Amino acid sequence: MEENINTVTHNWLKEEIKKDWICVDATMGRGNDTYFLAKRCQKVIAFDIQQEALNATQKRCDGFNNIQLHLLSHDKMEEVIKEKVDCILFNLGYLPHFDPSVITKPKTTSNALIASWNLLKKNGILIIVSYIGHPGGQEEHEAVKQFVNTHSRCIKTYTYQTKENAPIAYYLKKES
Ligand SMILES: C[S@@+](CC[C@H](N)C(=O)[O-])C[C@H]1O[C@@H](n2cnc3c(N)ncnc32)[C@H](O)[C@@H]1O
Repeated sequence: MEENINTVTHNWLKEEIKKDWICVDATMGRGNDTYFLAKRCQKVIAFDIQQEALNATQKRCDGFNNIQLHLLSHDKMEEVIKEKVDCILFNLGYLPHFDPSVITKPKTTSNALIASWNLLKKNGILIIVSYIGHPGGQEEHEAVKQFVNTHSRCIKTYTYQTKENAPIAYYLKKES
């Protein structure tokens, strides 16, 4: 049985994350990543374009006072983040159990990845989970690959070996 891709990215982060970190969840969705980060770091700044995602994340993270949720496209993150951050996580695609036509798109994703790179501290971590199986997923993955190939060194990747069009996770460190 292969390990779930989100468990893998969380395990990558568990090895590095520190209590004083400022983290960004670029796609809050159902709030699983925001919750994971909020339990372990000083502050999480999270983005989504759907009210449903914001509500779900608020509910998932009930009781946490170290999260800032923004109903805003992630390519505009520099409008609200005015400090350098330690880690940024993208879990692309669509909101599970909701409208599958509302997806992350190549152009906004590329711009958001560039904005993320500007915001990361030296040695900051960028994790991208790119889904390929849905309509538009392949095109978005091309944009993700283009970014990964031209920015720093990709330290780790993970995908399922036994599935066609399996999602792929990338782990990048901003080394300079
Ligand atoms: C796979 S889900 C994220 C899963 C989530 N991180 C979790 O832990 O549950 C992808 C999310 O990206 C959101 N999204 C789509 N376009 C976006 C954009 N331009 N900016 C921010 N979020 C976007 C969707 O609304 C959806 O909720």
